[in-house]
Amino acid sequence: MNPDKLKIAILGGTGNIGEGMVLRLALQNLMTDGVKNEVIIGSRSRETADEAAKQALLELGNCGFDTSKIIITGNTNLEAAKAAELIILTIRFDHVLPLLDESREALENKILVTPVVPMAKEGNLFIYKPPAEGSAALAIQKKVPESTKVVAAFHNIPAGKLKDIVKCKAVHDAIVCSDDAEAKKLVMELAKNMGCLRPLDGGPLNQASIMESLTPMLINLAKLNGLKDLGMNFS
Ligand SMILES: NC(=O)c1ccc[n+]([C@@H]2O[C@H](COP(=O)([O-])OP(=O)(O)OC[C@H]3O[C@@H](n4cnc5c(N)ncnc54)[C@H](OP(=O)(O)O)[C@@H]3O)[C@@H](O)[C@H]2O)c1
Repeated sequence: MNPDKLKIAILGGTGNIGEGMVLRLALQNLMTDGVKNEVIIGSRSRETADEAAKQALLELGNCGFDTSKIIITGNTNLEAAKAAELIILTIRFDHVLPLLDESREALENKILVTPVVPMAKEGNLFIYKPPAEGSAALAIQKKVPESTKVVAAFHNIPAGKLKDIVKCKAVHDAIVCSDDAEAKKLVMELAKNMGCLRPLDGGPLNQASIMESLTPMLINLAKLNGLKDLGMNFS
């Protein structure tokens, strides 16, 4: 797998955090010498994905970026997963496992990145609601072929800051967990090249539950304290 010429599928890339991922990953081709990644937006609908790809290119152009070096396309989730070497799941936990069943063959030998946080609303606040496996990451690992390298990352990154490509240069820490050292290294490199993140090695995949559980806390802290788009920095 060539880390400078990757096909990256963002399944559910039409959504909140997906949009920021698309923009930041596409911009790597301008920010980092020699990088020629292709970003494929996945959706349940090919038309929605195509439209999201058009909008992302338009937004990058409107923000003054040279889009001639940027490749963003759209497709169904399944076709996007088939075409990609690295797949990011930006879909809510409830919908993830059925999608993995449908896409099982397309996941063989690929890197699968999960920022998925299983959580539920209780009253005004969110609580972490992991599945029986202990975390979304472990439930996902159980579902996919053995050859799929699962990496947990980006759970604690607020969509609002990822999307704000012009104003937001703030650097948040992005913890990355995986049992596959090479896949973890590659995702950490991608995170670093996004320009607004400092990747930190978070250990093996079974550590992902800790990271997942912090997201409802960040959302609740923002709500209770009149703040917005909270991320984390360790120092
Ligand atoms: N938002 C954040 O700040 C943030 C931060 C860290 C992690 N995350 C995690 O990232 C994931 C996505 O969060 P989000 O806020 O971006 O979600 P979202 O905007 O609500 O949804 C993302 C996409 O999911 C697709 N979708 C909706 N219903 C579906 C279904 N029944 N089956 C398959 N796909 C469906 C939609 O795409 P189409 O309609 O185009 O198919 C939608 O655009 C979640 O697991 C969340 O925990 C979010």
